[in-house]
Amino acid sequence: MTDAQTTIGVVRESAQGERRVALVPKAVGSLTARGLAVVVEPGAGEGALLPDDLYTGAGASIGDAWAADVVVKVAPPTADEVKRLRAGQSLIGFLAPRNPDSPVPALKDAGVQAFALESIPRISRAQSMDALSSQANVAGYKAVLVAACEATRFFPMLTTAAGTVKPATVLVLGVGVAGLQALATAKRLGARTTGYDVRPEVAEQVRSVGAQWLDVGIDAAGEGGYARELTDAERAEQQKKLEEAITGFDVVITTALVPGRAAPRLVTAVAVAGMAPGSVIVDLAGEAGGNCELTEPGRTVCKHDVTIVSPLNLPATMPEHASELYSKNITALLELLVTDGKLAPDFEDEVVAASCVTGCVTRQAADERSGEEPNADERSREEPNADERSREEPNADERSREEPSAGDS
Ligand SMILES: NC(=O)c1ccc[n+]([C@@H]2O[C@H](COP(=O)([O-])OP(=O)(O)OC[C@H]3O[C@@H](n4cnc5c(N)ncnc54)[C@H](O)[C@@H]3O)[C@@H](O)[C@H]2O)c1
Repeated sequence: MTDAQTTIGVVRESAQGERRVALVPKAVGSLTARGLAVVVEPGAGEGALLPDDLYTGAGASIGDAWAADVVVKVAPPTADEVKRLRAGQSLIGFLAPRNPDSPVPALKDAGVQAFALESIPRISRAQSMDALSSQANVAGYKAVLVAACEATRFFPMLTTAAGTVKPATVLVLGVGVAGLQALATAKRLGARTTGYDVRPEVAEQVRSVGAQWLDVGIDAAGEGGYARELTDAERAEQQKKLEEAITGFDVVITTALVPGRAAPRLVTAVAVAGMAPGSVIVDLAGEAGGNCELTEPGRTVCKHDVTIVSPLNLPATMPEHASELYSKNITALLELLVTDGKLAPDFEDEVVAASCVTGCVTRQAADERSGEEPNADERSREEPNADERSREEPNADERSREEPSAGDS
């Protein structure tokens, strides 16, 4: 590594249960070929079974990744981790920009230029950087396996000498990327699958993975391919119709989310009570409060003889492939941000502008600041940023979907 080289720092994740790593050794070669140097925190890849020597073998060095020019991460940094960063550094990762406890304001105060993967527009050109999709694919797949493990019944139809077993019936509520992957996975396991969403255009995608479409007559397509929140009357109507439909299913997997809002309540306590004993609900919306009234986020509970599972970070339970896909997303974004071996974000580019949630702090501005210590208020007055815009108007996530995706990764 030479002094002039821009360094990419791969840090070790600190969140409990987080086994993913932001860059896998396979990615190192393509970055060094672009003139970048990769520094890996000792043990950063351990959770994903990627020992340090695989990174050094690929051309990275082991060292203080937090001091790198660009730090890459999976989970949003904790308050202590933000303190490890200095003005002028850049950070790329999930930053939960819409959450009230997002680290974005603290990063901005620290003069760190942060790129949030959640804010990358859902447009075709940015698909390779779409970590929401890559990780939702992992979650949708694993949700089905969790359901199959908890179920007291087979998924496939079995014809044996001891008798014939009917296939399980699986209903997926909310068919975005995770839901579509769940439908496809449950079908591969031999279940009879049905999908439901409030965006009517999803019906075609549901059928394309061999599932039936459940129509409850509500259209709540919102901005940019996302769903809007239902009115009280629509919600009551939806819950009533779903209560009737849900009782007929062995497994219900829920993934319904509305950006920036609490998860919609789709499975009422009455619906759970109506399910056959031994049925399973896997609620992937636990982090946003859950889609099922009886969900306890992060826990597995049994209510009315129905098992309700609400795992909070399923992608972390498949750290190898989840990291590999995430690493591709990070590499694709870095390729957009780097020119001639230097970080040179082009804020005219909509992907760059939307994902930079701290207001595009330039290196020169940061250097000036670290000399004169301006206060946080002065910094935040400077220029509006993607994060601020996103609180006021439909953000990049909401507005920029160009084409429907069938489980893109
Ligand atoms: N590059 C691309 O073009 C690209 C990539 C990925 C996703 N997308 C699109 O982005 C959109 C969002 O996908 P996502 O997976 O992030 O979705 P998401 O995680 O925000 O939500 C999951 C699903 O829940 C549904 N939902 C919300 N409220 C509901 C309710 N009350 N009842 C039933 N369902 C409800 C949503 O319509 C969505 O399909 C989709 O249109 C998807 O096709 C586009």
